[in-house]
Amino acid sequence: MAATEQKPRIFSGIQPTGRKTLGNYSGGFRQYAQTQETGDGFFCIVDLHSLSVEYDPAELRRSTLDLAALLFATGLDAERSTVFCQSHVTAHAEAAWLLSAVTSYGQLGRMTQFKEKAAAHEFVSAALFTYPVLMAGDILLYQTDFVPVGDDQRQHLELARDVAQRFNHRYGETFRVPEAIIPEIGGRIMDLQEPADKMSTTLSSEQGAVYIADPPDVIRKKFKTAVTDSEREIRYAPREKPGVSNLLEIMSVATGESIKALEQRFVGAGYGDLKDAVGESVVELLSPIRERFEALRADERELQRLLSVGAEKARRASEPTLDLMYDRMGFATSEAGRFFGAARPRGL
Ligand code: AMP
Ligand code: TRP
Repeated sequence: MAATEQKPRIFSGIQPTGRKTLGNYSGGFRQYAQTQETGDGFFCIVDLHSLSVEYDPAELRRSTLDLAALLFATGLDAERSTVFCQSHVTAHAEAAWLLSAVTSYGQLGRMTQFKEKAAAHEFVSAALFTYPVLMAGDILLYQTDFVPVGDDQRQHLELARDVAQRFNHRYGETFRVPEAIIPEIGGRIMDLQEPADKMSTTLSSEQGAVYIADPPDVIRKKFKTAVTDSEREIRYAPREKPGVSNLLEIMSVATGESIKALEQRFVGAGYGDLKDAVGESVVELLSPIRERFEALRADERELQRLLSVGAEKARRASEPTLDLMYDRMGFATSEAGRFFGAARPRGL
C-alpha cells in the first residue's frame, strides 16, 4: 500500500438499550472485531437513537458503560479503533438536522423498522420516524467506506446512500457514498421459537432469543427446545426448513465451520444431536466473552476514560465534514467559530 493511500474507513453503531442477543453478536460485534483488522474503525454507542422508544433514564448511563465493556470483550481494541458515545460528539445531532432537509418524508414512512416499531408502541415519537436521518449522519460524518451491520439495517443503509447522493447532487461533492457489509451466513439470526421471525431484543420471547449474558444452562435449554420441523433430514434450506437452517447458521457462526462441512458432519444424525451440538458451541463461544465482560464492566472509571479518548478522536474526525456541510449549504461562517478552511474531510 502506498504511503498516501488511506485504509478504508469503517463505521458502525449499536444501541445501548435492550439486552444484546446472539443476533447482535452475529451481525454486529463479530463483524466489528473482524473489520477492525482491515480498516480504520469507528464504533459508536448510539445513545441518541435509544430515546426514539420508551427507555429508563436511570438505566441509560449503566447500559452505556456495559455496552462499551461488551464491545471491548468481543474484541475491539481501544488503541486501534475509535469506540465512543454518540452524545459526546455533538456533530451527530447537528448533522441529523441538516440532513433532514435532503431526506424524503415518503421514504422515511416506508422504513420497515419504523412500521414494525410504530405498531408495537402506543406512543409513536417523531424521533422514531426521523431515526434513519440520525443514522445517515452518523455514517456520513466520517466519510465512511464500509458499514458492517445485520440484514435488518439494509434498508436504513440504502436510505443513507440516497441522502448522501442527494446532498452531493444538490450542494456539491461532500460525502463518500457508503456500502453495507452484511454477512452471508449469520446476517439474520432467527428466533428459536418462531424461526420465520428475526431474533430481536424487543419482539422475541424469552425462550426465542439467546442473550449474550445468558448462563450456560439457560443457553443449552433454549437450544434443546428450539423449533425445527417434522422431517428428519439435517440440511440447509432456509425457505423450507427455517428452524434447522437457523441452527446450522448459528453453529457456523460459533465454530467458524462452513455450512457444507456441518451438513456432512450431521448426515444420519437426529435433530436432538444437532440441537445439543449447537447449544454447546454457543456456550463455548459466549463463555469467554461473558468472563471478559464481567471483568471490564467492574472498572467504570477505565471505561469512562476510554470513551473520552474515543470521543476526542471522533470529534476530530467528524468536524471537517460538518464544517463542509454548513459551508456547502450556504451558512455564514464566523471566523472565530467554525473551523471551515482549517481542515478538509479525508479524501476531499
Ligand atoms: P441494535 O442492538 O438494534 O443496535 O443492533 C446492533 C447490530 O446488530 C445491528 O447491526 C443489527 O443489524 C444487528 N442485529 C440485530 N439483530 C440481529 C439478528 N437477529 N441477526 C443478525 N444481526 C442482528
Ligand atoms: N440503527 C442501527 C440499529 O438499530 C444502529 C445504528 C445507528 C447504526 N447508527 C448507525 C448502525 C450507523 C450502523 C451505522 O441496529
